Amino acid sequence: MLLIICMSTLFFSQCLNRQSEVNDVRSNGYAGSETCVSCHRNFTASYAATAHHNSTSPASKQTIKGSFETDSNVYAYKPNLKVQMEERDSRLLQVAYLDGREKQSAPFDIVVGSGRKAQTFLYWIDDQIYQLPVSYFVKARAWVNSPNYPADKVRFDRNVPIGCFECHGSYIKRTSVEVVNNRLSDHFDKNSILYGIDCERCHGPAAKHVAYQQQHPDEKKAKYIASFASLSREDQLNMCSVCHSGLHDTKQTTFFFRPGAKLSAFIHPDTTTVSLADIDVHGNQLQLLKSSECFIKSNTLNCSTCHNTHVNERDDPALFSKRCMSCHQPDQDHFCKMAEKVGPSIVNNCIDCHMPTKESKLITLRSQGQTKPTPNLVRTHYIAVYPDETKRFLKDRDR
Ligand code: HEC
Ligand code: HEC
Ligand code: HEC
Ligand code: HEC
Ligand code: HEC
Ligand code: HEC
Ligand code: HEC
Repeated sequence: MLLIICMSTLFFSQCLNRQSEVNDVRSNGYAGSETCVSCHRNFTASYAATAHHNSTSPASKQTIKGSFETDSNVYAYKPNLKVQMEERDSRLLQVAYLDGREKQSAPFDIVVGSGRKAQTFLYWIDDQIYQLPVSYFVKARAWVNSPNYPADKVRFDRNVPIGCFECHGSYIKRTSVEVVNNRLSDHFDKNSILYGIDCERCHGPAAKHVAYQQQHPDEKKAKYIASFASLSREDQLNMCSVCHSGLHDTKQTTFFFRPGAKLSAFIHPDTTTVSLADIDVHGNQLQLLKSSECFIKSNTLNCSTCHNTHVNERDDPALFSKRCMSCHQPDQDHFCKMAEKVGPSIVNNCIDCHMPTKESKLITLRSQGQTKPTPNLVRTHYIAVYPDETKRFLKDRDR
């Protein structure tokens, strides 16, 4: 429902600017994404439906994918120990019960994850953020034990650092850091949070661009904003690598990374070489793509060759296959060696054979009663020949 309201342009500016402040909290030359709407409506309207835009949000019944209905609102650790998702006086809570007695509860404040695959929920204690015990696994349609919590105890005490927001949001102001039990613990300004990944998170601060274009309405060329085409390939990739090259220690917050800046000024680069088989499919799209023949042998392939990040293009293999065929045309000598066997429908799906989904070792989710957690499945970005997936593809097709 929220999605539909957001997609209608009438209400779009409120949706994009959930913060509803005219001045962007980031200051430093940021205009705020609501200002882009007047001139870039074709981009802003479709953007509201993307995973990036919805990657963090204030918790509500619309943004939380899991159910609060009796019977489907429980995660049981043991027969006598459970967490129940409850709505009390319009507050949404996770409530822990031992032997039927309420022990502890905390509110759903923040949702992390657009709901493609999984969501984790956070709550505030004063100016610090903690993870709730129970997460949601979309495919299994089940409440699950939150990652990094033990399987047999209810815990509410995992302190959440700024990193989640640096990759899943646009801004949160860190006011101080303290050391607790040898670990860093962040304090935040609660009113500074900018949910979701917004236009300026990728394009950089645009206040000067906005002011110039507003003063020169007849100017058809852009000023004071980086043009993607004029960036080096490395800089083009870095616009995505800042969040899609795995977890790194940061030298300074990545919130203010902008196109053309040196990524190494923000994150400590990988120092050890990891073998291809050990690169996890979750989060490491850059490393996997860079290992592929397509990347090595072409001088142009980058993330935007296949992804238009302004539109939700999920689950459309035919569309992505067209992008493969911008380089691998069916009438060329080096076209797919399976073409004859697959037949003309090959143009609809290069993906399941050459970029199959693989199990993540990093992200696994434990459903109720499971002794072994279920791995999350992520599309690999190592483009190659996968004999097993080819066999499976042909078998499924012939069934
Ligand atoms: C007053 C009108 C106006 C506003 C407001 C505006 N832009 Fe633009 N923008 C333009 C024009 C005109 C161009 C050049 C034509 C085009 O590419 O659409 C442009 C181009 C761009 C480009 C492409 C640059 C290039 O050379 O490839 C980006 C990126 C961009 N704008 C981002 C933004 C963002 C982000 C915002 C909001 C913070 C924004 N713009 C607000 C008018 C505007
Ligand atoms: C995830 C990163 C990302 C986000 C978020 C993003 N963009 Fe872009 N944008 C890109 C990239 C990469 C390009 C260049 C390649 C392309 O056109 O897809 C681009 C290109 C553009 C262009 C120039 C396109 C052209 O054909 O001239 C405009 C204008 C633009 N973006 C505006 C916006 C606006 C407005 C928003 C917010 C609603 C936004 N972008 C959000 C990454 C992003
Ligand atoms: C600020 C961090 C950040 C940046 C910059 C960023 N991404 Fe993402 N991206 C994410 C996160 C986080 C998700 C998972 C969103 C979710 O589902 O909650 C994601 C998801 C995606 C998805 C899956 C979308 C879907 O609907 O299945 C694609 C594709 C993607 N990103 C491509 C890109 C590309 C291409 C760029 C560069 C132009 C880029 N991203 C830049 C953080 C980022
Ligand atoms: C270095 C960037 C980065 C950091 C830090 C990060 N994430 Fe993510 N996260 C991603 C990307 C990219 C995706 C989606 C693409 C993938 O799975 O490869 C994702 C996916 C997710 C998803 C699944 C969303 C969906 O529906 O697919 C959840 C939930 C999530 N992250 C929670 C968190 C939490 C909580 C934290 C902080 C403890 C965190 N992430 C820290 C980059 C990051
Ligand atoms: C920018 C151009 C470009 C795009 C887009 C592209 N490739 Fe490639 N790909 C290449 C080049 C160049 C090679 C090296 C071999 C050659 O010259 O044919 C290659 C090699 C391959 C190989 C052989 C890999 C190996 O390890 O032997 C496969 C399979 C492949 N591509 C599949 C795909 C698929 C599937 C897509 C879409 C998801 C795709 N490619 C998109 C340029 C591209
Ligand atoms: C050759 C084409 C191609 C290139 C280049 C490419 N991708 Fe993808 N990507 C895909 C396809 C195909 C999917 C699966 C889309 C779907 O099924 O919805 C995908 C999915 C994703 C997802 C979601 C994965 C999941 O299963 O949750 C993320 C995140 C992503 N891409 C990020 C990136 C980033 C970052 C780059 C650049 C480093 C990149 N991609 C480059 C083709 C490509
Ligand atoms: C049924 C699975 C399947 C589908 C669908 C498929 N491929 Fe392939 N492809 C393979 C296999 C297996 C090979 C290796 C065959 C061999 O070496 O005998 C291959 C080889 C290739 C090669 C390397 C050719 C060479 O000269 O070495 C390219 C490029 C390629 N495929 C691209 C594509 C593209 C583009 C599509 C979509 C239009 C596609 N494939 C669809 C399974 C598939």
